[in-house]
Amino acid sequence: MARAGIILAAGLGTRMKSAKPKVMHEVAGRAMLGHVISAMRAADVTRIVVVTHKDGEAVRAFAATLGAESVIQEKQLGTGHAAASAGPLLSDFAGTVIVAYGDMPLVTADTFLRSFEAQAGHGMAMVGFTPDDPGAYGRMILDHDGHLDHIVEFKDASDEDKAVRLCNAGILAAKASDFFRWTAGLTNDNAQNEYYLTDVPALAKADGVRCVVVEADKAEMMGVNSRGELARAEGLMQQRLRSAALGMGAGLVAPETVHFCFDTVLEPDCLIEPYVVFGPGVTVRSGAHIRAFSHLEGASVAGGAIVGPYARLRPGAIVEEDVHIGNFVELKNTRIEKGAKANHLTYLGDARVGPGANIGCGTITCNYDGFFKHKTDIGAGAFIGSDTALVAPVKVGDGAITGAGSVITRDVPANALAVTRAEQRILEGWAEKFRSRKKAEKASKT
Ligand code: UD1
Ligand code: CA
Repeated sequence: MARAGIILAAGLGTRMKSAKPKVMHEVAGRAMLGHVISAMRAADVTRIVVVTHKDGEAVRAFAATLGAESVIQEKQLGTGHAAASAGPLLSDFAGTVIVAYGDMPLVTADTFLRSFEAQAGHGMAMVGFTPDDPGAYGRMILDHDGHLDHIVEFKDASDEDKAVRLCNAGILAAKASDFFRWTAGLTNDNAQNEYYLTDVPALAKADGVRCVVVEADKAEMMGVNSRGELARAEGLMQQRLRSAALGMGAGLVAPETVHFCFDTVLEPDCLIEPYVVFGPGVTVRSGAHIRAFSHLEGASVAGGAIVGPYARLRPGAIVEEDVHIGNFVELKNTRIEKGAKANHLTYLGDARVGPGANIGCGTITCNYDGFFKHKTDIGAGAFIGSDTALVAPVKVGDGAITGAGSVITRDVPANALAVTRAEQRILEGWAEKFRSRKKAEKASKT
């Protein structure tokens, strides 16, 4: 049966106290909505419709980048109304729909798959979980035979309802045609005057379709409504990413101090020291060693390479085999080829450093003239003296040397020395005379 997904993301998210739409807040470097979309895709959901606020242009643009369609919910009249507003777009869709909220970043494909399976067996399925603190979640009230009878929203709940610990996660699977018939029958006769998605199971039951509850892990089901919950979700996602990396054979000395991005790739037998931060798009290959307090994004590090401590690899940094990148070295859009070294206090941007080259302490590629970026090319085995400024565009040939402190503005031929430096003068005894003069001056003043 074909599968379509509806993701509710039109709420104002007022509890976040943020100008940014709630579902665009990031967990492990990706908007919450992105996590939900990707979990749905992994559960073979082919069409995904995101329900958005009329001002949610950023949400729609983001959804489009992930191949999802979107609709506008003109007024925020509740989650049931939101889901129904995807109806016109899915009017020709004959399969199963799954509904989820855009604020559940920890949801996994497995939970969606189990929901589809349960739906196929029973007619309708909703996901429930038992959080440590049921707080303001909707409560799932079961029938004597264990099916879902109805859901009570917290604001409508009696004390007896509130004592129920099984909570609604906000995932529902049903046949599309059934689902849109039921949402058309929703009313807003409740504490919030909203059309609740959570009233659908009771309507289904009246229609002779029973809803089965699929139980999911509480850590996966949390909904993010506030900054505090966003931080909690981040913590849970980090734990998940760390365990996955360890499970794949990555070496993490102090996993709890390493910050991952959703797409961080750590190959088996790489070694990550404490306090390393990964932004998006990082691959660390087997045998690479990332030392403490390094920050990497959009970078790849090959086997045998050592990066850090205190290194910064920015987008486009490619570190090849056996390269050493030391403390306070920043790379941007730069390839460091096999066995080259830049061990201290250096900025290399828009550059290529050939194999075996040595970049002295304090070297800087002056890659930006205030308007354009320019390339620096350093040949194989070149030796860049400490404190060299390479004014790009510029090339240093294979095996060439630049003298310490030089400002290199013209290409250096292979195996040549380039040095730009004022000549050194020696004034014998000058320092001694200077000191006696200053001492006398000081004595006459006190
Ligand atoms: C909802 C559920 C509750 C469940 C909890 C799980 C309802 C009525 N309540 O409560 O049973 O325990 O999630 O986290 O469904 N949205 C729209 N349009 C609207 C209203 C909401 O698109 O008119 C979207 C929001 O952007 C959000 C999602 O629906 O992504 C859920 O809405 P939210 O206000 O967070 O619902 P909760 O109060 O958390
Ligand atoms: Ca919520």
